[in-house]
Amino acid sequence: MAKTIIPAVRGMHDILPAATGLWQRVERAAHALFYRYGYREIRTPLVERLDLFERQLGESTDVVQKEMYAFTDSLNDEKLALRPEATVSTMRALLADGAHRAGVSRVWYGGAMFRHERPQKGRYRQFHQMGCEAVGSSDPLLETEQIILLARLWEELGIGERLKLTLNNLGDSAARARHRQLLQAYFYDSKKDWDELSRARLDKNPLRLLDDKNPEIQTLAAAAPLLAEQLDDDAKAHVQKVKDALVAHNIAFEEDPRLVRGLDYYNLTVFEWTLASEGSSQNAVCGGGRYDQLAETIGPHALAGCGFALGVERLVSLCMEAAEESKTALPPAPAADCYLAVLDADCYDYAFAVAEECRAAGIGVFYATGAQALGKQIKKCEALNIPLLLVVGSSEKQQNCITIKGLTSERAGTQQTAERAQLASVLQTLMNKS
Ligand code: HAM
Repeated sequence: MAKTIIPAVRGMHDILPAATGLWQRVERAAHALFYRYGYREIRTPLVERLDLFERQLGESTDVVQKEMYAFTDSLNDEKLALRPEATVSTMRALLADGAHRAGVSRVWYGGAMFRHERPQKGRYRQFHQMGCEAVGSSDPLLETEQIILLARLWEELGIGERLKLTLNNLGDSAARARHRQLLQAYFYDSKKDWDELSRARLDKNPLRLLDDKNPEIQTLAAAAPLLAEQLDDDAKAHVQKVKDALVAHNIAFEEDPRLVRGLDYYNLTVFEWTLASEGSSQNAVCGGGRYDQLAETIGPHALAGCGFALGVERLVSLCMEAAEESKTALPPAPAADCYLAVLDADCYDYAFAVAEECRAAGIGVFYATGAQALGKQIKKCEALNIPLLLVVGSSEKQQNCITIKGLTSERAGTQQTAERAQLASVLQTLMNKS
């Protein structure tokens, strides 16, 4: 028999019951806002054909070059990959569903993504995103609306002060082609000292050099020609509308002409929310932008769109920090409405039937199997943060009743007895009071 527990895969984590309460609160707040803005949920597969990501995310991006969980399905030799993000799959699914004929479609998703990155705090190999995509219109108000939705979410989660918004304009493909030539000329003489990946970037997509990790390239990048100088009037007007609307809605932002995002499908507006206290894009909690040409690289139809994805691990940890600092640490979510403690072995059947009657009435019951001393059961009940303790012993069984003890601070020490037939309604009254 194995003597040690087989560990989880590096960079992949369990989210244990003590943490899932906060995760659910964050997810619920996001889902409620997605609903308020007319987004409906979409669920796409975790596995896609590798070429979907290779082409659409950009062959010279870190995600495709170094971080893809790619494998060949030995049953049919298909080249597949675990999804590193969900925008491309969402666009594939929407196009297959005929979204190009449907006007504006707004969808949201949530779930695990996979990138073979070097794990560190806030950077994992399996992580979770929640995101929104709006397709079918190139109206700049669509991405503005998404940015306002996000600002509301941060406010509702109490972290608005901790995040800052940065914007850039990536223009159209002609501007990027002109800029690409300027970058190639600018970096050309320095490339002899670079590694293969950076040299390939210079050939294929020099914009990627602007977020290259090599410090020498970073120094050069700081003085590289700016895309902003290549933008035409339409591109400038598009992002100006976004900026004007944000000002009108009191949403502060900074502009960063070097914000390029890590994926290749973007044009015009791009944005990131990072920690206000630090500058690095490693701290991005959320990123997104417009991708009006993505659809044409997937299939025969054009479909403008924009979207964002937020990192749930990073968001949850920010909410935890905020709660700790403001001394309003959120108690873990209770495991159930009541904890049912059995004191004597001859009461199991009675207790089991009582638990089922409560559940049938919609009340959550944690049934502690096996008889144990009351003190131990109270401790367990408190550890699970359950506010009400139901006690069943021989005398309760004989009298066809249940003892109810209150455990939360406002009910501590309270005790009452309920007849079995009345138990559900007594509990419901108690629960409604809390
Ligand atoms: P992204 O910037 O690659 O964009 O990822 C979005 C967010 O996911 C990041 O801001 C970060 O919070 C989180 N994230 C990314 N990688 C990791 C990681 N290794 N560990 C933990 N969290 C991570 C996208 O994925 C685009 N699909 C966003 C988008 C949607 N653009 C348009 N629509």
